[in-house]
Amino acid sequence: MPAIIKLENVSKSFGQKEVLRQANFSVDEGETKIILGGSGQGKSTILRLILGLEKPDEGRILINGIDIAPLEEEELVPIRKKIGMVFQESSLFDSLTVFDNIAYRLEEDGNLADEEIVKTTQRLLHLVDLEEDDLVKLPEQLSGGMKRRVAIARAMAGVHNIMLYDEPTAGLDPITGGHITGLMIRLRDLEKVTSVVVTQDLISSFQMVTRCAHKTQSGIQVAVNPGHPCAQKTNLVILKDGRILVEGTLESLARSTDPYVQEFLSSLKSLFAVR
Ligand SMILES: Nc1ncnc2c1ncn2[C@@H]1O[C@H](COP(=O)(O)OP(=O)(O)OP(=O)(O)O)[C@@H](O)[C@H]1O
Ligand SMILES: [Mg+2]
Repeated sequence: MPAIIKLENVSKSFGQKEVLRQANFSVDEGETKIILGGSGQGKSTILRLILGLEKPDEGRILINGIDIAPLEEEELVPIRKKIGMVFQESSLFDSLTVFDNIAYRLEEDGNLADEEIVKTTQRLLHLVDLEEDDLVKLPEQLSGGMKRRVAIARAMAGVHNIMLYDEPTAGLDPITGGHITGLMIRLRDLEKVTSVVVTQDLISSFQMVTRCAHKTQSGIQVAVNPGHPCAQKTNLVILKDGRILVEGTLESLARSTDPYVQEFLSSLKSLFAVR
């Protein structure tokens, strides 16, 4: 199966600081790659490189087989249209209401009638557990968690075959966090979206590798089904000192004898025990 996203020997420095050193990984169609790593290890930089917002110093960044590193801004536009990105800092448009933030790309694309845009925006609003009353609010009137949910709804507006999430559940209560994780699982299993998820949330990661989404007569269900191929479509990398320290399934990482990996994942041991 061809890789949808591939980083080949990617290095990136900011001034004297070498952030990525010959990083390699690939994400196949319909797969989810979770990137874990301490603060400042270059996780957000990887997403910005995939989006073409940063250029690598060395190496290739292939999206659907095309190296985007040498592309000019206007050549990146059609590639970015296929990608939904949830930024770490939410990055909402401050002067636009929640409705206009979510509907932004739908309006920009110009393919949908006004009533379709309203319907889609309302559907996305409910998906992220926000209320109709919130549609008229400005970002400054929202809590941090609400901003994040608007950012997720905005990233999901339109048809994307790639989703990039930068700490999508950070700062959310466990119920909303679980709901957002469920959405990522739904997009993976039912829409075959290829994703990269940067997260520090081990519970969310655990849910991603043990749960699957499927359609039932009463609607869509996300249920625990760890042996199912859906759940196996998610694997993880841990970044350290600019390199990918380990890569594999969550269970294989949890068995790693590397002290850093052990420490990083120590809270997971109990999760596996209670499953
Ligand atoms: N545009 C930039 N200019 C200068 N330095 C930068 C820039 N972007 C990132 N850096 C530096 O690169 C390093 C990696 O940053 P990055 O945001 O990718 O880390 P991260 O792994 O996402 O961290 P966190 O978990 O805190 O979000 C940091 O030391 C940061 O200061
Ligand atoms: Mg970051």
